[in-house]
Amino acid sequence: MFANLHNLSHHAAWRRQLELILESTGEGIYGIDLRGRCIFINEAGAEMLGYTPDEVLGRSMHYLIHHSHADETLMPVHECRIYKAFQEGHGIRVDNEVLWRRDGSSFPAEYASYPIRDGDSVVGAVVTFNDITERKRTERLLQEAHDQLERRVRERTAELTAAHDNLRQSHESLRRLSAHLNSVREEERRHIARDIHDDLGAALTALQLDMNWLRQRLAGDETLAGKLDDMLEVGSEAMSAVRRILNDLRPGVLDHLGLWPALETLLQEFQRRSGIACRYVCPPAVERCRLGRDAEIALYRIVQEVLTNVSRHAGARNVQLVASTEGDALTLRIADDGQGMRVPPQPTSFGLLGMRERTLALGGRLNIVSSPGEGTTVVLCLPGVVAGQQGASA
Ligand SMILES: Nc1ncnc2c1ncn2[C@@H]1O[C@H](COP(=O)(O)OP(=O)(O)OP(=O)(O)O)[C@@H](O)[C@H]1O
Ligand SMILES: [Mg+2]
Repeated sequence: MFANLHNLSHHAAWRRQLELILESTGEGIYGIDLRGRCIFINEAGAEMLGYTPDEVLGRSMHYLIHHSHADETLMPVHECRIYKAFQEGHGIRVDNEVLWRRDGSSFPAEYASYPIRDGDSVVGAVVTFNDITERKRTERLLQEAHDQLERRVRERTAELTAAHDNLRQSHESLRRLSAHLNSVREEERRHIARDIHDDLGAALTALQLDMNWLRQRLAGDETLAGKLDDMLEVGSEAMSAVRRILNDLRPGVLDHLGLWPALETLLQEFQRRSGIACRYVCPPAVERCRLGRDAEIALYRIVQEVLTNVSRHAGARNVQLVASTEGDALTLRIADDGQGMRVPPQPTSFGLLGMRERTLALGGRLNIVSSPGEGTTVVLCLPGVVAGQQGASA
């Protein structure tokens, strides 16, 4: 197994130790002289390469086991990294090349080369090597698993992004649909209000006039006059009911005088019907602010819903509506001193949802500030509507 071990050591004990080390390791170990010829090789190394140690001794190791790349193209000796390294007198560790066996097959190897020095001069090198087929296979499997995982993550991300886009589109469509339905509903209410006003209102007025005419002529007949008085009363109740229905369908004051007087009237009516004290604060700067028909009816409906909620849920004694401007933003703050509530993070009930959707459709924000026992304040903020009020409409 050893050739010319004198080159390594002249000492017999040291030589014996060396033999033991070489044979006890599972790694392949060989030594080469300056011309690259094998001066020793251990059993394990020779066996890995398909030789006995004696068959390797004296052979040029580069041409025997390291002559070609993994793709079988030749590796000239001047490109061999082991050769170059020990010629230059330094060590090297490589794990991306193959070593060739006697039978022409190759295996991926990790090898390390260390120069052997005699004083200052390099006289050869010791090379250790290992068959790392298993390690490479594991690395490849790991890499494949990693690539597969990355591919899966990319696919999932793409799927999720597409689903998210779809959801956002559906959300936007629903929001547009909701805004459209609101305006269709308002338009429909306006039609119905006009028809009731023109047909029913006009018929009731004509009846009232005729009954009044008859009443004057029947002044002498107590029984008939009494009957007519009853009819006149029913007629005037019917007129009031029609006016109330008309007002609910489409508050005339909103069309004729605008939002602010309409809100004031709404609060007065609310106070009269509910017995809850109402306060209305609207400075002149706000009163001058006209928002356009759709925006005004939307705000009116929101305040209507807030007041309905106050009367149904709050148990409040006072309500106040304060309108104010801040920069170009208009703010409506409707506060009650009732029992308050736990505000849901996302409204799911239709009253709160409708208020929020209407506000969003106007480009505004709606905040509900409340907690149990603390009353409830609904804050509605519409940015960009105060400056240039002339043209402001939503
Ligand atoms: N001012 C308030 N004070 C206390 N609780 C309130 C107030 N406003 C709303 N709530 C609570 O919030 C809930 C949701 O209100 P929302 O208007 O969405 O639904 P609703 O009034 O119950 O039904 P509707 O769909 O007829 O409006 C109410 O059921 C009530 O519990
Ligand atoms: Mg409600």
